[in-house]
Formats: sequence, C-alpha cells, structure tokens
Amino acid sequence: MSHAVIDYRNLFALDRKVALVSGGSRGIGEEIVRALASAGASVMLTDILADEGHALAKDLRGRGLRAEFMRQDVADEVQWEMAVAAVVAKFGGLDILVNNAGIEKQSLIADLCFEDLQKVLDINISGVLLGCKHAVRAMRPGGIAGKGGSIINISSIAGLGGIPALSAYTASKGAVRLLTKSVAVECAQLRTAIRCNSIHPGLIDTQMAARFLQGFVDLKLAESVQASKEAFLNQVPMGELGRPQDIAAAVVYLASDAARYVTGAELHVDGGYYAM
Ligand SMILES: NC(=O)c1ccc[n+]([C@@H]2O[C@H](COP(=O)([O-])OP(=O)(O)OC[C@H]3O[C@@H](n4cnc5c(N)ncnc54)[C@H](O)[C@@H]3O)[C@@H](O)[C@H]2O)c1
Repeated sequence: MSHAVIDYRNLFALDRKVALVSGGSRGIGEEIVRALASAGASVMLTDILADEGHALAKDLRGRGLRAEFMRQDVADEVQWEMAVAAVVAKFGGLDILVNNAGIEKQSLIADLCFEDLQKVLDINISGVLLGCKHAVRAMRPGGIAGKGGSIINISSIAGLGGIPALSAYTASKGAVRLLTKSVAVECAQLRTAIRCNSIHPGLIDTQMAARFLQGFVDLKLAESVQASKEAFLNQVPMGELGRPQDIAAAVVYLASDAARYVTGAELHVDGGYYAM
C-alpha cells in the first residue's frame, strides 16, 4: 500500500506563524522568544522590563529574525487587549501565545503577607487567564486572527505538588495546570482549532532559581545556597538543574503542527523529578 511521505522537519517548523510571549525580556521567556524566532515565527515579546525587551528584539532583528517588543503588565486586562491587537496589526495574525510571565514569593504560611499573595495570584493566575481569554477571542473562527492556534502556559513542578515556603506560588501554578485543561476542553469541543497545554519546568538556571535557593537560606530552612541546591538536586534523578533552552524546545514542539493532536496535556521538563 502506498503511503504519503511526511516531511517531519517541516512539521516542527514555525514559518508563517505569529507568536506572542509574555515575560519575554529575560530568563526562560527570553529563550522561548529566541527559540520561536529561530524556528521561523514572527514574535511579539512583552514584559514590564522595557530596556531588556527592546534590546532582545533588536538583537534578533539584527540576526535577520522577526521580533518586536511591547511593554505589557499581564495583570491588566486592557493591556492584554492592546497586546493582542498590536501583534495582529504588526504581523498579520496570532497563532501562538506563550503565557510565561510569572513571579514567585517565598514565605512560611504563617508569615504570608496579603499584598504578596494578591500580587502572585494577579500575575500568575489572572495574567494567564486573561491571556487565554484574549488569545481565544482573536484565534477562534471569526476572530481578528481567526485561524486557531496553540496556547502554552508555563506552570511549574510547583503546580504538581507541595514545596515548603511556597504556598502562594504553588496555589497559583496548580491553578495554571487546571485552567489550562478547561480552556483545552472548551476550545476543542467548540471546534475552535485552538490547543492549550501546560509546561512544568523543574528548577531552571535563571535569576528566579537563584532567588529561590537563596530564599531557603533567608528563611533558615537551609544553611547555605550550596546546601539548598544540593537538597533540591537530591530529588532530581538527572542530578542537575534545567536550562532555559530545555523549556524553549518544549514550547517549540507544542507550538508546532507536530503537536496537532495534543491538547490539555501537561509536559514535565524536570530531569525526572516527578517520575520518582
Ligand atoms: N526558573 C525556574 O526554575 C522556574 C521553574 C518553574 C517555573 N518557572 C516559571 O517560568 C516562568 C519564567 O520564569 P523565569 O525563571 O524566567 O523568571 P524571571 O524572573 O527570570 O523572568 C520572569 C519575567 O516575567 C516578567 N514579569 C514579571 N511580572 C510581570 C508582569 N506583571 N507583566 C509582564 N511581565 C512580568 C519579568 O519582568 C521577567 O522578565 C515563570 O512563570 C516561572 O514561574 C520558572
């Protein structure tokens, strides 16, 4: 029986796709922006850090890639409307949204400050939900982009189980895991051609990870950053921290047509942490 030959390299390519990445100025978000652009997408990166964001977009354009920066606070709904409208106006569509912006506050539960809690929930939950809302409005049939798409929400291993001194963050990342599944099921059943998946990074070597390890020392839960790191790595079968590119590669897969039948999934990129 003859069989159509599929070019699997093309299946992973993002040529002619348009992406919006929140929190794209540094860390994991920066690497996601670099990965999507180098895989062929036009990328609008947004962040509250404007200098770094402009510099990244300029660097990518200097390499012949397509990238623009726009300042956006993800906790503000009006700024989501503006960001989605801007990416469609600039690049002619919207196929990929990566809800990457997120913050972490470490505190023992007994000392949790209400303002900190509210800020974590506003950015990590409301920011992601608002991103899904405005991307779905644009991507669904009849929307200003209208061709369906892929939404990728960056959760965490902290969205899968408990971690001491991290209750606000784990609450928010657990919410991201489940809101992703609701958006996925709804969008699939309404035949919008929109997929929605979550990625669960382990500890990734970024400024956030450095602050996280230092936080255990500050809270007197570890004697030193080195001891804090060793205690964490003892729980990672691969015995090392992850790198931003490990997460960026997972984003490229979920964004691409190779993941056509994948929605509502949670992709653990954690060196085996949750396999134990
Ligand atoms: N680094 C890790 O070990 C790790 C592990 C699991 C999950 N994550 C998640 O990955 C994502 C990226 O983390 P990172 O390590 O690169 O952190 P980071 O702090 O280095 O970068 C986060 C980015 O989000 C931006 N941001 C913060 N608040 C914002 C707001 N209100 N509006 C728009 N942008 C905002 C920051 O300015 C920054 O550029 C986060 O959602 C984080 O929770 C990180």
